[in-house]
Amino acid sequence: MKAHELFEEIINGGHAKEKTCDVIKAGDPNKELKKVAVTMFATVDTVKKAQEWGADMIIVHEPTYYDHFEEIEDLPVVVAKRKLIENSGITIYRYHDYMHDREVDQIPEGEIYYLGLKGKIEKTPYSASYFFKADEPITALELANKMEKELGIKRVRIAGTRDKKSTKIALCFGTPGGVFELLCDENIEMVLTGEACEWRLAEYARDADALGMNKTLIVMGHIGSERDGMRLLAKRLSENHTDFETRYIECGEVYTYTDEE
Ligand SMILES: [Fe+2]
Ligand SMILES: [Fe+2]
Repeated sequence: MKAHELFEEIINGGHAKEKTCDVIKAGDPNKELKKVAVTMFATVDTVKKAQEWGADMIIVHEPTYYDHFEEIEDLPVVVAKRKLIENSGITIYRYHDYMHDREVDQIPEGEIYYLGLKGKIEKTPYSASYFFKADEPITALELANKMEKELGIKRVRIAGTRDKKSTKIALCFGTPGGVFELLCDENIEMVLTGEACEWRLAEYARDADALGMNKTLIVMGHIGSERDGMRLLAKRLSENHTDFETRYIECGEVYTYTDEE
């Protein structure tokens, strides 16, 4: 199978946007595949790991060059990174829009799957977000602990209510709009997001809780809130394809902490 054939297979069933970022980013679309790496970000480190493994293709979710459409000038980091990628000979495709724009968005699907939660994911009227009606009520503290244990997120942040059970959860992974509207929605008690504006969103949740309302914002970090969708993609590729090897390569969280080596 060639790289472009696999990509066409992956995006099949998604919706085409007029302008999509889901295109080839580097390398040869006709490259024959023996090893396919899947990762959240093509960081310098993940590209090197993929190269060491002998990957022919990397499928990424996020931009490689710090702009959604990667329309960026030749900054020193961009030039050096492009050289590294070109020298690796690896073909890179981005799988983002087609992944989100499905009947079931594969990012929240993967997050909920690896969290081990049961419940129903449904679209909301707000941008890039979903209602998650959990089968079992859970507190924010329990959920945050689960995120650290099951998803390996190093520091989950909780603003607002910590210890009231709820099933009324909204999923706003990555950096979407609409988080404030969801926090204000009376049918939602807990909003899970990737990265968030503290002065507005987190303070709203803190005040709501102090006024006796059940309202929580849980901040997982951008990578922590989306990478498990890519993990699930890698799992499915390895289950469905014996014609090439698939490996999920962890890009790691972008921040480090003072209590780490
Ligand atoms: Fe994202
Ligand atoms: Fe995303």
